[in-house]
Amino acid sequence: TVTGLDLRAEIDRLRKERNAVILAHYYQKPELQDLADFVGDSLELSRKAQETDADVIAFCGVRFMAETAKILSPEKIVVLPDMDAGCSLEDSCPPERFAAFRAEHPDHIALTYINCSAAVKALSDVIVTSSSAEKILMQLPKEQKIIFGPDRNLGGYLARKTGRDMLLWPGVCIVHEAFSETELLKLRAEHPDAPILAHPECPPHLLDHADFVGSTSAILEHAKKSPARTVIVATEPHIIHQMQKAVPDKQFIGAPGADGNCNCNICPYMALNTMEKLYIALRDLEPRIELDEELRLKAKTSLDRMLAMAS
Ligand code: 13P
Ligand code: SF4
Repeated sequence: TVTGLDLRAEIDRLRKERNAVILAHYYQKPELQDLADFVGDSLELSRKAQETDADVIAFCGVRFMAETAKILSPEKIVVLPDMDAGCSLEDSCPPERFAAFRAEHPDHIALTYINCSAAVKALSDVIVTSSSAEKILMQLPKEQKIIFGPDRNLGGYLARKTGRDMLLWPGVCIVHEAFSETELLKLRAEHPDAPILAHPECPPHLLDHADFVGSTSAILEHAKKSPARTVIVATEPHIIHQMQKAVPDKQFIGAPGADGNCNCNICPYMALNTMEKLYIALRDLEPRIELDEELRLKAKTSLDRMLAMAS
């Protein structure tokens, strides 16, 4: 039991003792974002994981992110506070089914969203994140046939934006699917001057109403710079913590779900990580990400292509 401990002080003590770096995604609880050494989007977090000289990476995010850190930094111990922190996109795309899909389309390359398992990365040609996808897609020859998975919303958005036709895997993010168009339009009617900033994991009927579409980091930057006094944020609402910290006198409203508020759009996987579980992970160096070396090297090839093409 950890009752009675000052968790923040214990985490600070352990991170020094272990020479650990704490990385957090913007969808993490505010107290985890606030103690992290670095908070970022998926691409930035991958880069940090690759560059760090720490001995331990404690990843406050979901499993595919911690796996990516291990793929890029195999000599480091990578801990994830809760190993059940998965992702609906990863769940939608089991490696055997993805391999069969690829086999049905031998003349296509697989451009794959980072929100997938290491096994699916190993079956892919190039990985993308929401912040790098368009740039990477534009570097592929026009006549190149492409499979895009597992997020059909990001894939559809990219196809509309670039005019490139891609075969889409039918996965979705349950969080971005939960926004209600009706409630969003009601909210906009109440705040007619508020821009709507949306993540490309949102379905097309929501993106149609967005004034800006981008990754979490891009949404955050746009929200900070926007001259509007009120901003509507159509992505996981924990990111509003960073917005409110950066610009305390602006109003940031999370896009609503069917019940009219944004609480149903909290990512249940991201929410599994807590201060207490982070403390235990640093104390015990468990749960740890371990990967088969052959699989890791295959997955690294597609991730390395992303890092080269995104820079
Ligand atoms: P980005 O932070 O790369 O935009 O990803 C969003 C996301 O859904 C992570 O799970
Ligand atoms: Fe997966 Fe969506 Fe949660 Fe991101 S927000 S981890 S895409 S379920």
